[in-house]
Amino acid sequence: MSRTILLTGPELASEAMHLAAERGVRIIPTTPYLPAEELEAIIRAEQPDAIVVRQGQLTRPMIEASSKLKVIAKHGVGYNTIDIQAAADQGIPVSIAVGANAQSVAELAFALMFSVARQTALLDARMRDGHWDKAEANGIELSGKTLGLIGLGSIGGILLDLVAPLRMKVKVYDPYLKQLPQRANVEREEDFNQLLAQSDIISLHCPLTETNHNLLGADQFARMRPGAIVINTARGELIDTAALVTALSERRIAGAGLDTFNPEPPPADSPLWGLPNLVATPHVGANTSEARDRVALVALQQIFDVWAGTALDPRCVVNRHLFAS
Ligand SMILES: NC(=O)c1ccc[n+]([C@@H]2O[C@H](COP(=O)([O-])OP(=O)(O)OC[C@H]3O[C@@H](n4cnc5c(N)ncnc54)[C@H](O)[C@@H]3O)[C@@H](O)[C@H]2O)c1
Repeated sequence: MSRTILLTGPELASEAMHLAAERGVRIIPTTPYLPAEELEAIIRAEQPDAIVVRQGQLTRPMIEASSKLKVIAKHGVGYNTIDIQAAADQGIPVSIAVGANAQSVAELAFALMFSVARQTALLDARMRDGHWDKAEANGIELSGKTLGLIGLGSIGGILLDLVAPLRMKVKVYDPYLKQLPQRANVEREEDFNQLLAQSDIISLHCPLTETNHNLLGADQFARMRPGAIVINTARGELIDTAALVTALSERRIAGAGLDTFNPEPPPADSPLWGLPNLVATPHVGANTSEARDRVALVALQQIFDVWAGTALDPRCVVNRHLFAS
């Protein structure tokens, strides 16, 4: 009997869509960010065997709405929008596409560092407005600066390689990291406050968990260097937005590059938009053709494996610890 995968968002990349068609799998895309009751009603009507989570929340009522549901695959790695406990209660694994979009996100974090350091977004906007700020514009070099990485998983690890030619000193804060890669100029910093105080650029690459909301707030911005740049391609909730706005507007820190926000999207009247030292992108870290192709194929393969009874790599199953033993 043919199986059904419901997507909380648009179709998968074409190679994955072809693969699904070859296997006779029915794919149901939905409009991103549907109201909860509407998405729940679609799941109840379609009774999917798997759900691929692209945009928006996947709540307990949605998970419980399909009695045929065997697996939930995140189209990416950030799974904070999925009720993983509700899935575990139903015996449903929630998988993530470990590493599949890491290169793209690391490259965006790298681009944001340069963009903030050299004010490229601001200068571009000023030129389009008829200004020629050659005399006044002043940036900073990244070469030789200290980069503080918060989280050294797939994305942070690639960023280590990207910054290597810049001869930056890298400090890593990651309490769960088993082993630091052996590299020149890379050292572990177990004291979070020291990392904040000693870094010129601080880049977030850890997941959002129940315990690290507002990891960077007023106290943390106060500990940073006046020339510090903060980059967030991880999750918006890791930063206290009001405290960041104050730190940027009072020039407590030099600038910020953000791909993720709390909430998303930020409101049109957000004080963020008045800050010339902010560079913003709309949560597009993984939006490259290459990452989309890889993530879609990984998510699909994980679904096929669960349907076939093949065990998934435990690193990819984020709710395995919540299953009743
Ligand atoms: N902007 C985007 O489009 C985009 C795309 C992919 C991922 N992300 C975000 O980036 C995050 C990291 O992705 P990844 O693929 O590198 O994940 P990963 O699981 O490979 O690595 C995360 C690392 O963070 C560490 N960590 C966990 N909690 C921590 C904490 N409180 N403090 C410091 N370190 C901590 C872990 O030990 C791990 O080494 C994801 O969780 C996701 O939220 C964003």
